[in-house]
Amino acid sequence: MSHTVPMKQVLLDGQHDSRELRNALGRFPTGVTVITASAPGGKLEGLTANSFSALSLDPPLVLWSLSRKSQSLSGVVAAGHFAINVLRTGQSDLSHRFATPHENKFEGVKFETGLGGSPVLGDVLASFECKTESTIEGGDHLLFVGRVLRISYGEGDPLIFNSGRYCTAVSLRTGSAESDLNGIWVGLG
Ligand SMILES: Cc1cc2nc3c(=O)[nH]c(=O)nc-3n(C[C@H](O)[C@H](O)[C@H](O)COP(=O)(O)O)c2cc1C
Repeated sequence: MSHTVPMKQVLLDGQHDSRELRNALGRFPTGVTVITASAPGGKLEGLTANSFSALSLDPPLVLWSLSRKSQSLSGVVAAGHFAINVLRTGQSDLSHRFATPHENKFEGVKFETGLGGSPVLGDVLASFECKTESTIEGGDHLLFVGRVLRISYGEGDPLIFNSGRYCTAVSLRTGSAESDLNGIWVGLG
């Protein structure tokens, strides 16, 4: 027996409430990253971003987008490098800190200086140290394409952002068709 799940439909005619678009986008869960950079002169930039995505394996490229309203915009562009820090389940406080405008978001935060001066945060699940390959205009955001120069990764559970909330990921039963993608998907991630 199949049930039809009620769906809300909104035509994006220029008059729509951007809340509706955000509601729909929020149905796509993501991980949470803190993207860091060192601007010329040494000012450290950092912001929480869930727009991070894999782009290419060969060459190794990733992408993310930054709001044009962001205080970090000019610093990250000028830095020419950035580091993507993938957060763990227990790091929602770090996500909150880097999503809140502050004079020095790095105060009391453990990090090491990575390639191009980008801060690599302590105890993250993975990091991607990148050189900015290109930037692309994307409406009210600027898209960054990064060439990955160095990766680090460990074991553990990622922090998940879903419908405006922090969550944890629960794996499906091992051995089920849904969980066993080996041999089917050999693409990105
Ligand atoms: C889970 C989460 C994901 C976010 N993703 C992005 C993103 O991908 N791009 C972006 O520009 N802002 C994103 N933000 C908002 C920024 O983190 C926030 O606006 C921050 O204050 C920007 O810092 P700045 O203005 O000091 O540069 C996100 C916030 C949260 C909580």
